[in-house]
Amino acid sequence: MLNKPFVALLCLALLAVAGCSNNSGSSSSSSSTPAAPTGSSGASQLTIAVIPKGTTHDYWKSVDAGAQQAGKELGVQIDWKGALQESDRAGEIAIVQQFVSDKVSGIVIAPNDIAALAQPIKAATTAGIPVVVIDSAVNGTPGKDFVSFVATDNYKGGVMGGQQLAKLLGGKGNVVLLRYQEGSASTDDRERGFLDVMKQNPGIHLLVDNRYGGATVSEAKSAAMDLVDYLKQADGIFCPNESTTHGMLLALRQENLAGKVKFVGFDATPDLTAALKQGQINALISQNPVKMGYDGVKICVEKLRGQTVPLRDDTGVMEIDMTNINSPAVQKLLAPPPS
Ligand code: BDR
Repeated sequence: MLNKPFVALLCLALLAVAGCSNNSGSSSSSSSTPAAPTGSSGASQLTIAVIPKGTTHDYWKSVDAGAQQAGKELGVQIDWKGALQESDRAGEIAIVQQFVSDKVSGIVIAPNDIAALAQPIKAATTAGIPVVVIDSAVNGTPGKDFVSFVATDNYKGGVMGGQQLAKLLGGKGNVVLLRYQEGSASTDDRERGFLDVMKQNPGIHLLVDNRYGGATVSEAKSAAMDLVDYLKQADGIFCPNESTTHGMLLALRQENLAGKVKFVGFDATPDLTAALKQGQINALISQNPVKMGYDGVKICVEKLRGQTVPLRDDTGVMEIDMTNINSPAVQKLLAPPPS
């Protein structure tokens, strides 16, 4: 008969092993749905790996929710795994390579670098694993190096941000652009679209357009604080994604400038829409991350099932401000992602 202290110790040891966190600097989850009815070939359940750029932004929770929804509806297993930060190019490459060696059925990936992830994605395709690229472009050809590109029209989103800020400024004033991260195709395209509109407004003067916020909100806040002398002269500000918008907002609050400068941001997370309602942000250019995750998985599974799929799927972009925030279309976009 085992004595009680030993049993207690054994239980604690077993719990400790079971609770081991994944300490590889990434976060992962796997959800397997009831096995789909197998086809005539008796094929087992498909496993789709979904790899975000990183896992620290709220944005990716919505992408994950959309992917899980598609997995449930299509009867496939979703393995979600991302590096913690969008600056971790080596981490995302390692995750792709791991899923390839695990021989997953398909991969849906948001590349955190347009160049660094090109070869790993091509290698997965060569290994016979269909890859659907979402959110942010990668070097290569859809239909050849990967199956499809599912994303916002990011250049258009940047143009919309520029047009909204120019309208708020009456076409004149000093403007600050805080960029996101070199190599991030999605935000590069938004920044380009924004700057093209600024060029069309001769009354607008760009005080800053070559500084980067970096992959986290705290880095972006520090970068914005380094620009505080420019922020004090600014009439308008544009930021191209969730973390730069949030970091800039925190800096403006710290300097008591929030609400005193016209501010257009990107991505409509709960924190940013709350600031919009408080008048500290004037407009948000919003993507549809739930649809992006859903369509990415759906197109990957359709490819695996021999169906014809589009080379490009535009998941839409919308400008949100206090004139339309209560409209059904915006409320649908802002609704909490399906759990
Ligand atoms: C959003 O901005 C970029 O980091 C990603 O491409 C995504 O569209 C998340 O913050």
